[in-house]
Amino acid sequence: MKTDSPLDYVQWYYDKDHYRWEHFPEVTDFINSFLAEIDGESVLNPGCGPQFYDWMLRFKSVPKKYVGVDISKSTITYLNTADDPRLVKARNAALETGAQSRILCADIFDLESEFTGKFDAVVATGFIGTFHGDDLNRLCRVFHSALKPDGMMVKLTWHGPHRTPEQTAEKLKYGYDSLEEHEPYRFLSQIEACGFSAGRHELFECDPETYQWDVIQGCVFRKG
Ligand SMILES: C[S@@+](CC[C@H](N)C(=O)[O-])C[C@H]1O[C@@H](n2cnc3c(N)ncnc32)[C@H](O)[C@@H]1O
Repeated sequence: MKTDSPLDYVQWYYDKDHYRWEHFPEVTDFINSFLAEIDGESVLNPGCGPQFYDWMLRFKSVPKKYVGVDISKSTITYLNTADDPRLVKARNAALETGAQSRILCADIFDLESEFTGKFDAVVATGFIGTFHGDDLNRLCRVFHSALKPDGMMVKLTWHGPHRTPEQTAEKLKYGYDSLEEHEPYRFLSQIEACGFSAGRHELFECDPETYQWDVIQGCVFRKG
């Protein structure tokens, strides 16, 4: 049973990402180059986490409609009310673009019928890598049906964590990770088998000691 991540955990997660964006510029360039592939009037960010606004500012074009979904109430509260100056800046910048953003507190699996055929792009970062086997197939079906014909999905996933057992236990408790590990090429094949074709695909090797992950996998898929 997953527990809602408390606000201080969400803040810690946001801090950690900002620290990494600043201190690992090559990794940030890699991540940004995939986010810069996101194009389209309607974009879905499932399992959006606290980086919902930061991610949008890196897309190729400003979407007219940008929808985030997160099962964690604290994450939604954080995104709507936190006064962390970096979040305030990103939220204001995102609002100034004129994009209509909506953040829903929900389980993505409950939104399949509501979302059918509504999106040009799905930004699947972090979240998708926490699903395996039949659960991953189910998740891919939700993304596939949410996309319009020829819609795109950008996937970024982190592989090979280096962390303490306590940190892992916390991640599992809050639905931020799973104990299983994806082998990147098999992961890609499983997503393709769910009706996606892979285009640009790259693996970025990180410094495990300082960045605390082995590899990041980026891939741009098209529906069909
Ligand atoms: C590993 S974090 C990823 C956050 C962000 N997308 C990123 O790139 O770092 C996973 C997020 O998915 C959310 N989550 C977990 N299960 C979910 C579900 N079934 N539906 C919607 N959100 C979910 C968690 O609350 C958490 O914010």
